[in-house]
Amino acid sequence: MLNFNDNLTQTFIGAHEYGQMREQLQAARNLLDGRKGPGSESTGWLDLPLLMKGESLESIRHAASRIRDQFEVLVVVGIGGSYLGARALIEALSHHFSPFLSQEAGSSPRIFFAGQQMSADYMNDLLEVIRGKRVALNVISKSGRTTEPAVAFRVLRDELFGRFSKDQLAKSLFITTDGEKGALRQYAREYGLTAFDIPEDVGGRYSVLTPAGLLPAAVAGIDIGALLEGAGEERARSLAPLAEDLVPADRYALDRILLHRKGYLAEILAAYEPSMHSLIEWWKQLFGESEGKDRRGILPLGAGFTTDLHSLGQLIQEGPRILFETVIRFEKPVKDVVIPSDPLDLDELEYLAGKTMSLVNRRAFEGTALAHTEGGVPNMEIVLTEKTPFCLGRLIYFFERACALSALMSGVNPFDQPGVETYKRNMFSLLGKPGYGPAPSDSL
Ligand code: PA5
Repeated sequence: MLNFNDNLTQTFIGAHEYGQMREQLQAARNLLDGRKGPGSESTGWLDLPLLMKGESLESIRHAASRIRDQFEVLVVVGIGGSYLGARALIEALSHHFSPFLSQEAGSSPRIFFAGQQMSADYMNDLLEVIRGKRVALNVISKSGRTTEPAVAFRVLRDELFGRFSKDQLAKSLFITTDGEKGALRQYAREYGLTAFDIPEDVGGRYSVLTPAGLLPAAVAGIDIGALLEGAGEERARSLAPLAEDLVPADRYALDRILLHRKGYLAEILAAYEPSMHSLIEWWKQLFGESEGKDRRGILPLGAGFTTDLHSLGQLIQEGPRILFETVIRFEKPVKDVVIPSDPLDLDELEYLAGKTMSLVNRRAFEGTALAHTEGGVPNMEIVLTEKTPFCLGRLIYFFERACALSALMSGVNPFDQPGVETYKRNMFSLLGKPGYGPAPSDSL
């Protein structure tokens, strides 16, 4: 289950303000669900929980089980929306130390990521670790021409498969790309590679529930059927007609807009579980790229608590009053830990003996939420029953929908990212890419 609780924002937002925003919310919902708003050609993600069924899901499961059976390592190559979702799912739903677990027959291959940056040192270290192993590559790129993953693909392909035959390539390479167009689609056809589609009407940051996220997740042993089921339930709930009690995605979208209009310029998404780090990174891209344009947007920041309470806590409590905070919380851990007794009690923690770590974590959250609220930082919480594929599916759909609605209420296109091209143009001309003219400046 997913519950959204914004009781602690109520000293910052008056009840009447929700009523005043109702028409705007209804208009945003009409634009989104009627597929007639800006970027409507990229709203295919709305129905992914229904579409990714039957044969589509079976072909992903089939490829995943082949990778699990035949390879020791899977390198997932991609960036942005073709990277963050897969990483978020795997990190959230796997053992924290999976790379250090012994590999037994039938267990998941080690999963590494490449192409999400351009570091030569990272690439060399990765090659050192995977050389001589049975390695599969899942190259994910909708366009097939994004510099970082395309460079990584060239390097990995040459290093790992340079001396291998076309047959070997066909066994080891798995391509996830646009169904019809693009360089990788052509490459897959040329070499007879297993290829999966990112639907044309689904943009990168909304593609986690396509093979872009689902194939690597399935290789990690995640139940992708349950993930889609959770997303499907959140979809069904979100589509209910607007009522007095707003559904969680609507309410979160409204809270964000109302707080932003009062001068809260940045949102911190925090979790008290380190395994949520990459999901927070995924959320940062989702909201940052969707809302941050036309000189508008809420700055999306991430934090891992309680760790960051010992680094950012001071600033959140007493720094500039421009922050609001949303916390992802799980009702129970997969397995709890009881705090042992120590009669010496030099650390003065004996009062915690026999209590669980999850209880202490919960009280830390409650104490922090109250303190931050008192300090002028509005707090909201998203409560998930437990860290399962089903609950994560709900969370993903909840965020995607709230993000699209927030962006539409702010008057921007949630599905484009024109600003990302600027750095690329400069980089291409500095690198001498044909057609990109002289370098903008050689004064750096
Ligand atoms: O959200 C987006 O559209 C981007 O982050 C893209 O996913 C990213 O640039 C990678 O693009 P591609 O999949 O074409 O390599």
